[in-house]
Amino acid sequence: MDSSRIIVKSPGRINLIGEHIDYNGGYVLPGATDLIIEFTFSNSKKNFSEIFSSTINKECKIEFSNLSKSKIKWENYLIGSIVSILKKRKVELKNFTCRIDGNLPIGSGISSSSSLICGFIKGIDILNDLSFSNDEILSISREVEYDFIGLKGGIMDQYTIINAKKNNLILLNTKDNTSKYIESNLGEYKILLLNTNKEHDLSNSAYNDRVNECNKALQIINEAGFDFKYLTQINIEQLIQLKNKMPQYIFSRAIYVIEENLRTLKSVEYLKNCDYKSLGNLMYLSHDGLKNLYQVSCEELDFLVDQTKSYDEILGARMMGGGFGGCSINLIHSDFIDAFINEIRDNYYKKFSIHLSPILTSLGKGLRFNNKE
Ligand code: GLA
Repeated sequence: MDSSRIIVKSPGRINLIGEHIDYNGGYVLPGATDLIIEFTFSNSKKNFSEIFSSTINKECKIEFSNLSKSKIKWENYLIGSIVSILKKRKVELKNFTCRIDGNLPIGSGISSSSSLICGFIKGIDILNDLSFSNDEILSISREVEYDFIGLKGGIMDQYTIINAKKNNLILLNTKDNTSKYIESNLGEYKILLLNTNKEHDLSNSAYNDRVNECNKALQIINEAGFDFKYLTQINIEQLIQLKNKMPQYIFSRAIYVIEENLRTLKSVEYLKNCDYKSLGNLMYLSHDGLKNLYQVSCEELDFLVDQTKSYDEILGARMMGGGFGGCSINLIHSDFIDAFINEIRDNYYKKFSIHLSPILTSLGKGLRFNNKE
């Protein structure tokens, strides 16, 4: 391989359970997909940099002297990454060409945007010998999404993309960003994602509203005499005592958050005991909470989850990621995958006239470059 060429592979992330918990200081249980974005970087002698994505068949030119926001959304992930890198290191970056390929679906709740940002930062890091640590890549990528893009999300996606290990989930405590790997082979069961193909744009959606609603709940709780930093610190009994002090919908959001956080910890126990049936039940409960209390699901996701309930071979299903579209995640017996896919595809098309995209995935490796582990 040409030594001046740098190849970076950046995965997507799945989340077994612990949804909308990462900005509430609680526990989440994500892992990387084996689907990736692949970047090929080379140095360039031109006085600008060029990026071509074969996935969306688009090209973007970047001049380091003009890093203002673009009207084209995907370009902002790239421009924002350079802005944040330059804030971290006051250096003159080398111009480059970058080709983006891969098989990670876009806008499907598998975190293609964080994967794009993390992989892009890693490539520029290597190209310029910036020697960023994983924690630095984490904070840079987080800043891009939070400040430049405006998604007030948590840290789960970037943390997972950077740190994931094959066949492992990560139990991440978002209170202090400490984590443990949880080996997860899932026995005879597999992870099947069902992509609704209902595009969602989290930065324009109710995602940030949910973040604000959780902050509101925390504020009311603290005004009542507590001194918590995160919503996950209050317990159910304490919250019920404060029910009359908050609007019903804020109470519902808070109840969901506290229950989901407990479900995540319980899921780890079930995983360790290979009790996949109980784990699956928690996934269904998680979906109920996301649909009814947290209200981030949609008709398509609810349909997909409901359909699984008539099959013993599927132990659990729920919407995954920010919501309002994207994928459901299903724990399904390996012998039943083909039959189920055929059936659900037809049923989904009959109901919504949208093609469903099934994605069978295993737990893959985190961010890597030049075929290094
Ligand atoms: C999006 C955000 C994450 C997380 C999930 C919901 O993927 O980027 O930080 O909040 O939604 O769990």
